[in-house]
Amino acid sequence: MYRTHHCGELRIENCGEKVVLAGWIQKLRDLGGMTFIDLRDRYGISQLVFNMETKANLCSMARDCNREYVVQVSGTVIERSSKNPQMPTGDIEIDVDELVILNKAETPPFTIEEESDGGDELRMKYRYLDLRRPPLQRNITLRHKMGIEIRKYLSDQGFLEIETPFLIKSTPEGARDFIVPSRLNSNQFYALPQSPQTYKQLLMVSGFDKYFQIVKCFRDEDLRADRQPEFTQIDCEMSFVEQEDVLNTFEGLTKHLLKEIKGVECGNFQRMPYAEAMSKYGSDKPDLRFDLPITDISESAKGKGFKVFDDAEVVVALNVDGGAEWSRKQIDALTEWVKRPQIGAGGLIWMKFDNQGNTKSSVDKFFDDSDKNKWITKVGSKPGDMMLILAGKKMQTLNAAGELRLELADRLNLKDPSKYVPLWVVDFPLLEWDEEEKRYFAMHHPFTSPQKEDISKLKTAPGEVRANAYDLVINGVEIGGGSIRIHDRELQMQMFESLGFTPEEAENQFGFLLGAFKYGAPPHGGIAFGFDRFTAIMAGINNIRDFIAFPKNNNGRDVMSDAPSNVDQKQLEELLIKLIPPQE
Ligand code: AMO
Repeated sequence: MYRTHHCGELRIENCGEKVVLAGWIQKLRDLGGMTFIDLRDRYGISQLVFNMETKANLCSMARDCNREYVVQVSGTVIERSSKNPQMPTGDIEIDVDELVILNKAETPPFTIEEESDGGDELRMKYRYLDLRRPPLQRNITLRHKMGIEIRKYLSDQGFLEIETPFLIKSTPEGARDFIVPSRLNSNQFYALPQSPQTYKQLLMVSGFDKYFQIVKCFRDEDLRADRQPEFTQIDCEMSFVEQEDVLNTFEGLTKHLLKEIKGVECGNFQRMPYAEAMSKYGSDKPDLRFDLPITDISESAKGKGFKVFDDAEVVVALNVDGGAEWSRKQIDALTEWVKRPQIGAGGLIWMKFDNQGNTKSSVDKFFDDSDKNKWITKVGSKPGDMMLILAGKKMQTLNAAGELRLELADRLNLKDPSKYVPLWVVDFPLLEWDEEEKRYFAMHHPFTSPQKEDISKLKTAPGEVRANAYDLVINGVEIGGGSIRIHDRELQMQMFESLGFTPEEAENQFGFLLGAFKYGAPPHGGIAFGFDRFTAIMAGINNIRDFIAFPKNNNGRDVMSDAPSNVDQKQLEELLIKLIPPQE
């Protein structure tokens, strides 16, 4: 038997017991007469003690070990003379009788402790070592627990987990596909699925009325903290449902997870139309742990001779609680921040409303007290506050105000990490105009159904058609999105037409789905959650990388195995692929 106990489980009650432990040496301290080793495994750390006076040989052997050696020890649990209340095992140590070196290790390139001294790239290169660190072990364990709870919950609700293929037909809608050449079918390619969307809809046609799958998805898109080229979805679909049924089912799943994993009980989730989310919070995924709304003050700000406001489509304001105290330096720093290209505002106007009820602003030349009082009433400022004002084109200004809102929340410490505020954003637009390509794109995907009362606008005012689509947002992160699908072949053809497809193009790309719709497709709808994002948010973290055992870096590379990489000329020849030298 390699071990009788784990390194994290021994307590004062175990004193006097003979135990065998196995693990990695995290730390070794040689104090002359005594040598101490911190032995680590998945479950925690136990301190080992070797006494030079009583067991000289054993102690010398311990001193010759190095960090990350794999060892097995037998000994007796004893009470520590100087206890460590920070550690669960901090009351005890193991008086070692026998030490077996199971494997030696080279000195690792960074410290394998709670906080490491290694930089990002180095830790990515030695990911298997970074994964030994307790924070990553906790993250991966959390991911496992989430997976188990999701499977249990959905299975209890009658959902079946069904796998769908990874080698599928490439379709140009959505993000870019990763494509895979076929050796048996020369000059032809599969694509890796961006999601199992069409397959889950086909499963509905097949009568599997409640489907789910925890499944890898692949998207060749630009990467960010919350985006990986391969990521995992909790993909779900149901037949004979309306939007309300889908929202209730998955609100149930989300509540279950928050309760089981975080011990957080949530009431019914708030619902907010997309248009309100955009106008009030400047985002389709507002963080509602704090309010800080955006107020449109265009009416009282325009027409007073201040060109920036007069030329703007909208003038919007945010109220900073207690902001009248802010220094010029603080305001200037924030002004620079909104002018960064990522935010794209032309500048930032401020107006202070001091405790005596006086106002002072950067645009006093153009606005008198009566104008400014109108803003104060509209925005709801109180004495001691400051208003920050942005103006410009509508969507750009709302987006910038949304970003400013988040930045202010950071600076004012409003994002409570222990709070979970879930929100359904509903009534998304069906289509989005692309200025570059001069055509509409599906905001969600081409299979999302328009709202019944808006179908007539598909031809006349496509941009105004609302979709039966919804997103689940928690603390400002889009955790999941879905829709009620089109199940009628004619309407699906009409949708493809709105997206600029000829009937032949639609048939060529989606013929298999359109074909299936001839044979009795039930009304259906569903949702997919980002599993990595959902897990990360449960830990209160936005970066999904550390919730994936082997992630890619921001250039989409696996720096550990060095992928992507060149392949043999022979492999390329078999696939009839000729490489073109990269252009300078
Ligand atoms: P959507 O494209 O909105 O919908 O994706 C669903 C959820 O997947 C997560 N997600 C990602 N997570 C990490 N890295 C990425 N690159 C990434 N892209 C998306 C997000 C997102 O909310 N088939 C539809 C779902 C449906 O209609 O049922 C779909 O894929 O959390």
